Amino acid sequence: MEFILTQSSVSEYSGQAILLPILSEGPQTEATTKMDKSLGGFISQLLENKDIKGKAGETLVIPQANGPRLILVGMGKVESKTGDFTKSMQAAAKALKGSAADTGVIDISGITVAEKDQHWVSKQLAQAFEDSLYFFDICKSKADDAPAKKTIESLTIVTESKYQADVIFGQAVAKGMALTKELGDLPPNIVTPSYLADEADRLATLSAKMTTSILDEDKMEALGMGSFLSVSKGSIEPGKMICMEYKGGKAGEAPHALVGKGITFDTGGISLKPGAGMDEMKYDMCGAASVLGTMLTILTLDLPINFVAIVAAAENMPSGHASKPGDIVTAMNGTTIEILNTDAEGRLVLCDALTYTIETYKPASIVDIATLTGACMMALGGVNSGLFTQDDGLANEIIFASNDSCDPAWRLPLQDEYQELIDSNFADIANIGGRLAGATTAACFLSRFTKGQTWAHLDIAGTAWNSGGKAKGSTGRPVPLLVNYLVNKMG
Ligand code: BES
Ligand code: MN
Ligand code: ZN
Repeated sequence: MEFILTQSSVSEYSGQAILLPILSEGPQTEATTKMDKSLGGFISQLLENKDIKGKAGETLVIPQANGPRLILVGMGKVESKTGDFTKSMQAAAKALKGSAADTGVIDISGITVAEKDQHWVSKQLAQAFEDSLYFFDICKSKADDAPAKKTIESLTIVTESKYQADVIFGQAVAKGMALTKELGDLPPNIVTPSYLADEADRLATLSAKMTTSILDEDKMEALGMGSFLSVSKGSIEPGKMICMEYKGGKAGEAPHALVGKGITFDTGGISLKPGAGMDEMKYDMCGAASVLGTMLTILTLDLPINFVAIVAAAENMPSGHASKPGDIVTAMNGTTIEILNTDAEGRLVLCDALTYTIETYKPASIVDIATLTGACMMALGGVNSGLFTQDDGLANEIIFASNDSCDPAWRLPLQDEYQELIDSNFADIANIGGRLAGATTAACFLSRFTKGQTWAHLDIAGTAWNSGGKAKGSTGRPVPLLVNYLVNKMG
């Protein structure tokens, strides 16, 4: 979608739709009041008749015989909350996309969001509109005209030209999210570890600042990644450790690292999962997808940062070659692991990815992103991603980034007292704890491989995709959080 910034009034607009904010109380904005006057008080009448009340998320499309259709967009109270504003913009985008119009103009000047400036407002607006365009029909045999497919060619925003950079930023975040969503939604017979490796190589063609190095199983064997290989060996799809390096910052400055879980399908292995809903385990590579999406945003914006993105990609299958419960394997850092449950495979691939990242790149910070535990999903539902770290400073940075980007995360405990839950009778550690504190014991496991590092773990099991039915699909989270976090690192 093309975003055009203008300072002309919406009354001079010659496109197909005019989007105007409606507040739930107090006087309306100047643009809305002006339009109301020119329509002889029609908008006031709609408000009086309660055809629209101005609640966040509410919209009303009004066709006009002569001229562009009006789209009234509920905004809530005068100084709206961040979440309400985002919700309003998402609803506005949906209404414009759902209408017959391909072009529109929006004037939300006069709308303020608590504690946020107009730069933030412009960013969120562009992100919401661009994000609304995502649809997935790659695997449909016939092109149809599903409503989700309709596009918006251009959106004119009545605002000062100094907000251009923010609009570009918001749009780039949405494009990163779109890549993340597409990789998640694609079926697991297409998105294999090799496919993710090819995707990384494709990204590298977009910027001279980015390079990839892809470790195959022989390389990983030579490096002693016995934990990673214990997962990939059950599948005929070879596992890949996909390493992407983006050098946009000062030469020699330690990079910030993101490490994504890329299980392209999680059957559970020999500890096989139940059949119902197992198709959704194609989304078990959403951590990896979010890392790739974040990379796309970073290189689109050409950000001045040193950044490494690592993807631990494997398929978790049961077979004659698969790991068995009771197997003991040795990770790259020498830790021996008793695999008590082959379905706790994410931590097994991530631990070697973390060791490799630390040894190879000596990063300033590391955040891993993983659809790691059903327990985290049970605890936090689809609202918050789970955040685990022993570093309060890093926790605050991530929580700030999550709130600022309306991509919330909630900190869960990771005290030393939990560590004994992964004790093993026969090896250094077990790959599962008991029934209790499942999301925390998974984080405890990862913490054994990140000692002394500035490290955090994001469990996105509940937030990476919407489950079941018509709503089933990837969310593109936590790309907004990750981009915001990295941008704040630039100072
Ligand atoms: N990928 C799953 C976690 C998951 C399950 C995410 C459902 C989203 C929805 C992970 O590999 C897994 O199977 N975890 C197990 C761990 C258990 C065996 C300790 C789980 O959560 O049940
Ligand atoms: Mn599993
Ligand atoms: Zn998994």
